[in-house]
Amino acid sequence: MNENHAVCESPEWAEYLQNQILPSLTQHADLGAEMLEIGPGPGAATDWLRHKVKRLTAVEVDEAAAAKLASRYEGTNVEVVYGDATSLSYPEGLFDSVGSFTMLHHVPTAALQNKILAEAFRVLRPGGVLIASDSVASNGLHHFHEGDTYNPIDPPALLTILLALGFCDVTITVDWGLKFVAHATRT
Ligand SMILES: C[S@@+](CC[C@H](N)C(=O)[O-])C[C@H]1O[C@@H](n2cnc3c(N)ncnc32)[C@H](O)[C@@H]1O
Repeated sequence: MNENHAVCESPEWAEYLQNQILPSLTQHADLGAEMLEIGPGPGAATDWLRHKVKRLTAVEVDEAAAAKLASRYEGTNVEVVYGDATSLSYPEGLFDSVGSFTMLHHVPTAALQNKILAEAFRVLRPGGVLIASDSVASNGLHHFHEGDTYNPIDPPALLTILLALGFCDVTITVDWGLKFVAHATRT
C-alpha cells in the first residue's frame, strides 16, 4: 500500500472504525465464538473484535504486516496467519462470522473480489454472518491511492454477487462509505 495508508495505523482511524463502523455492523449480527477477519492490516478492527468473540483468526496477505500483528497478539485469543483471502486454507463451515474492513478495494480485479466473497461464504457455517465495510468510489480516494491498487466496490454488483453466492438476509448501506451484512445459508 502507498504511504498515505499510514493513516490506518493512527489512533484516529482506530477510533473511527471502533466507534462508528463496527458497532453499527454488529448491532444486528451475532458474531458467535469463532471469527475470521480478512486483511487486518495494522489491526484497528482486530483490537475491537477480539473482545467480542472467543477466538479471532486474522488472515493477512502482506507478510511484514502479518508478522508485526502476530507478535502483538502472541498469547491472546487472536491467531494471525500470513495468507491470501482469495484462497483460504480452512474447511467449509469453520467460522461463525467473517469480517472484512477497508480491504476489498485493495483487491485488483472484480473476479478476485468475488473469489474472496465466495471463500467467506464457504468457510462460514450455515447461518453465519459476513460483516464488511469499505469506501465508495470517489475522485479523492482515486488520488489517495496513487501508485497503489484502487478497485472500489460497485454496490449494485455487490448485491448481485452476494445473492448469487447464496448469501441471504443481505443489508447494504451506502452513504459516503459502504457497509454490508450478509448471512450464509445453505440448502
Ligand atoms: C487498507 S488496509 C485495511 C486494514 C484494516 N482492515 C483496517 O480497516 O484498518 C487493507 C489490508 O488488506 C490486506 N489485503 C489485501 N488483499 C488481501 C488478500 N487477498 N488477503 C488478505 N489480506 C489482503 C492488505 O495487505 C492490507 O493490510
